[in-house]
Order: sequence, then C-alpha cells, then structure tokens
Amino acid sequence: MSLQQTFGELRSQLAKRIIGQETLVERLLIALLADGHLLVEGAPGLAKTTAIKALADHLEGDFHRIQFTPDLLPSDVTGSEIYRPETGQFEFQKGPIFHNLVLADEINRAPAKVQSALLEAMGERQISVGMRTFPLDRLFLVMATQNPIEQEGTYPLPEAQLDRFLMHVVIDYPSADAERAILHLARNDYRQGQAPAAVKITAEQVFEARNAVSEVFMAEAVEEYLLALVLASRDPGSLDPELGRWTAFGASPRGTIALDRCARSLAWLDGRDYVTPDDVRNVAFDVLRHRLLLTFEAEAEGMTPDTVIQRLLDTVPVTA
Ligand SMILES: Nc1ncnc2c1ncn2[C@@H]1O[C@H](COP(=O)(O)OP(=O)(O)O)[C@@H](O)[C@H]1O
Ligand SMILES: [Mg+2]
Repeated sequence: MSLQQTFGELRSQLAKRIIGQETLVERLLIALLADGHLLVEGAPGLAKTTAIKALADHLEGDFHRIQFTPDLLPSDVTGSEIYRPETGQFEFQKGPIFHNLVLADEINRAPAKVQSALLEAMGERQISVGMRTFPLDRLFLVMATQNPIEQEGTYPLPEAQLDRFLMHVVIDYPSADAERAILHLARNDYRQGQAPAAVKITAEQVFEARNAVSEVFMAEAVEEYLLALVLASRDPGSLDPELGRWTAFGASPRGTIALDRCARSLAWLDGRDYVTPDDVRNVAFDVLRHRLLLTFEAEAEGMTPDTVIQRLLDTVPVTA
C-alpha cells in the first residue's frame, strides 16, 4: 500500500468512529500533513475530543488534553523551573504542551496570558525559560476548542495572534441519519468495547507524507488564483465597493502560505498529485475565517467573515 493509500485508509477508519463529521476528520488530517494547528468551534458533545483521540490511537505519538480554566497559569501549559534541593539547582519541568497531539479544550475560558503562552509555543515550537530553550516535538499538533456561545466569564482570543492557527473550523450538529448511526455505534461500543485501531502510522511516515505533500504540483494558473484571493482580501474595495466597506484587514502572508499548504494537503489526501482551484476554494473558508478583520460597520450589519469569504470566492475570477 502506498503512503497515500495508507492515509486514505486512515481517513475511512476515522470516519467509522466519527460519524457525519467528515469535515472535522479531514481538517485534522490536513493539519497533520500541513504541520499546523486547528481551532475548532462547535457546541459541546460534537465529537471534538473523540476525533483527536481517535487520531492519536492511529498514530505513533502521545496525546494530552489541557482543560483551560480561569485559574490556569501560563506555566501550567508550558512548564516551570523547579528547585531541586538535592542538587541546589533549578530544573525545568516540562508542561503538558510537550506532547505530540494536544487538545486545548475550551481555550477561551482561560485569560489572555495563558492563551498567548499557548499560541506563542504553537508558533515558535519551543519554550524559552530564562536563557534556555526547550524545543517541542517535531510531531506537534494542537487542536484548540471554543464554544460558539460566548458564555459569561470567557475571554476572547487575541485577534493578532489568531493566525498561528492553520485553520479555524466550525462544526455543526450531525444530520438525522448520522445521529442514528452515532446512537447505534455508541450502543455497540458499550456492549462490545471499542475495536483496536487497524491502521497505525509512524511519525516517520507522517514526515514522509509531508514531503510528498510539498511535492504536489501546483500549476501557475492555480497559484495566480490563490494569490488573487489573498490580495483581494487586502484590497477588496478595488473588486467590489461593498466588500471594501466591510473589510478592515485582510489575510497576511501567513494566510497565503496556509492556503497553499492546506490546498496541497487536501489534493494529496484525495489521491492526486496536483492542486485544482477547487482545492483552494474548498479550504478557503477555514484558512481565511480567522484572518479577516471586519469593520464596525460590517459587524453592525450582521456580516461575518464567512459572508466576506463567500463574496471573495464569487468575485475573484478562477484563472485555471
Ligand atoms: N459524530 C459522532 N460520531 C461518533 N460519536 C459521537 C459523535 N458525536 C458525538 N459522539 C459521542 O458523543 C459523546 C461526546 O463526544 P465528545 O467527543 O466528548 O464531544 P466534545 O469533545 O465535542 O464535547 C462521545 O461519547 C462520542 O462518542
Ligand atoms: Mg470534549
């Protein structure tokens, strides 16, 4: 079986455990292939924990969940220096971020300084303490979750740092059919216990897959289209005066790179060795959603980043 087929098999195995949330599963795999992190927004009970745990079951690597709470400290995430009386020295005790797959649950329940510590670590892939730095594992994926209903006592994420997330995924309730299948699966698991993971992927295979993804071919016309979308998000007024009125800030170069990586990963996951404009369009919402800043005017009119992205996709001509 080729590596591409192995990942395809992993995807279908995961779909059997996480029913009717194909987007979530696909985005998790894209994040793994594109070496990025996910922000997942969705109501409680929508299989967010189940999804990342299931992925961990199929991967060589460890999993850790950090529950974000108002009293959490940055060092509870990153780790801290501990005094060892035996040696008379300070020793760095690694925090829970030193794992391969990290679930940062309900990230908006912790104050800004804790969120920043996580986002910084995600971006820099290391923890600095005094003069020393401790690199995080090469296989390092954070999935942060956020409840869409802003509850009392929650802290909004720092907008300027949000683009450390490769994608911002929004998930919704499953369909009626999926709900039935979930019920049957849960009954079955309760009776028989869960079967062990059939596909196992090593860290080395993940790195190999990442190399393959970076070799996926992108025609010049597709690259033009990708760039046109990002540039249009920065200067939307030139395309459509209304869009200009709605958008305060567009996507940064980080957004451009993310769009490229995600489109490639999706193409590869779908068994191709070339990117199509549809790959770019498919990931555009999740890649751009948290990178656009709307004007007050737009927000007052009830616009969301999704409205703007849809309009960008409708207006920017596909060049391929
Ligand atoms: N789409 C789904 N497919 C399979 N099981 C699901 C699905 N949605 C929810 N469940 C089940 O519902 C329960 C809650 O899921 P969980 O992953 O803990 O939710 P979350 O972390 O999003 O709050 C779990 O027992 C899970 O197995
Ligand atoms: Mg959960």
